[in-house]
Amino acid sequence: MPEQIKLYYKNVTADVIGAEHGISDDQLKELAQKTTPIINLVNQERKDGKTPYRDLPYNDQTLEKVKAAARLCKDCENFVVLGIGGSALGNISMQTALNPYMYNIDQAQRKGPRLFVFDNVDPAQLSSFLDWISDKLDKTIINVISKSGRTAETASQFLILRELLLEKLGPEGFKNQVIATTDPAQGTLRTIANEANLTSLEVPDGVGGRFSVLSAVGLLSAAVCGIDIDDLLAGARDMDKTVSETDFFKNPAAINAAINWHYYNNGKRGSVMMPYCYALKDLSDWYRQLWAESLGKSKDLQGNIVNVGPTPIKALGTTDQHSQVQLYREGPNDKIYTFLQVNDFGKKLPIGSAPESAPELGYLSGQDLSKLLNAEKLATEYAMLKDERPCLTVHFDKVTPYAIGQFIYMFEVTTSIAGALFNINTYDQPAVELGKEATFALMGREGFEQMAQQIEPFTKLDDKFLI
Ligand code: PA5
Repeated sequence: MPEQIKLYYKNVTADVIGAEHGISDDQLKELAQKTTPIINLVNQERKDGKTPYRDLPYNDQTLEKVKAAARLCKDCENFVVLGIGGSALGNISMQTALNPYMYNIDQAQRKGPRLFVFDNVDPAQLSSFLDWISDKLDKTIINVISKSGRTAETASQFLILRELLLEKLGPEGFKNQVIATTDPAQGTLRTIANEANLTSLEVPDGVGGRFSVLSAVGLLSAAVCGIDIDDLLAGARDMDKTVSETDFFKNPAAINAAINWHYYNNGKRGSVMMPYCYALKDLSDWYRQLWAESLGKSKDLQGNIVNVGPTPIKALGTTDQHSQVQLYREGPNDKIYTFLQVNDFGKKLPIGSAPESAPELGYLSGQDLSKLLNAEKLATEYAMLKDERPCLTVHFDKVTPYAIGQFIYMFEVTTSIAGALFNINTYDQPAVELGKEATFALMGREGFEQMAQQIEPFTKLDDKFLI
């Protein structure tokens, strides 16, 4: 059986960081009492079909369709994802986690095409890319991903690429080089895909963007780039058993959610995720969206105004030791820290010998670089604990597709349990929707004239305040 990722939570207890900031045995028992019915509720919601993301790792039909689409890409040299938010962050994080750092640059290090993910609409960035790719379009697959099909960023990128493809390769080329991932039945992108007879994949009904990484949204780019998606899904299925466990003390998602909820209610409103592993750095970005969009809500389930939600913060060890840790240790004790630690990096890299003129560096010589990285994690954690800062650690034996599948599933279910503890709707994002509609209004879309009028006063700068 492959190694499990594990959550270590001793370093949030009062025994370690003291009674003022640590969780006592009694408080932990209270958290267990409060959370146990919520585990049951979340399990029941899953049975009632209210959280279809829970079943994604079991969807063999999607898996087969994704593999078939991936086979269509076997000769391409470049794979371009157009998407944003939940339609991009999972793709980016799996690529960073599971493929080598020089994947795009060094052909010898990759098992698939180069991968580019565009999750912004910066004209300088995209123009630079277009200058490079425009004579390689016949060897390029564009995967446009939008569940709603109406997101302005993705739509505009797609329209630019579509025009370029039609100009360079004609309608047949456009059809051959584009794969659309969108709603199975409705939306603008579905209409375009049907009309142009594009290869298409589905974002299942009821699965929100930030919970969709284990659907065709995240699986296709992963499979095309040589990531073992069978193992990824097996890891998620394995974690499903653990996070469905009704015994609070055996369920890492429940403990994680309860600890985070406890600290939020006790003035620690920031939640820092700090991997000590470059490959895991973009998972913090994925987590940031999952946590922020799911838990940041103005109303509770009864409609009361609560304006609740912990602020997820990403950091990277050791890089941010030299940027953030001063604040984390000596600034306000208003955050909880989740480190990600890896035992085996899959590579040994001994540090070279010190020159005679610098014998003070001799202590490093011959030691493995991973030992230094993990020593720095422990040293930072030790220093934080001295300052009574609560620290969790997710331990990875190795960064494998199986472990990443476990991690993704564990944090998704943690989010569901946390959302239920906060008594909010975890799965909507009304505030994001308003911004999308305001963009339509500013860009002159029909039907949004009234909103355009409301925004009008904000579109002009008041010189009095411009210095
Ligand atoms: O989690 C979410 O629902 C959002 O972040 C969406 O993924 C994001 O806004 C992109 O939406 P769409 O896939 O509809 O283009």
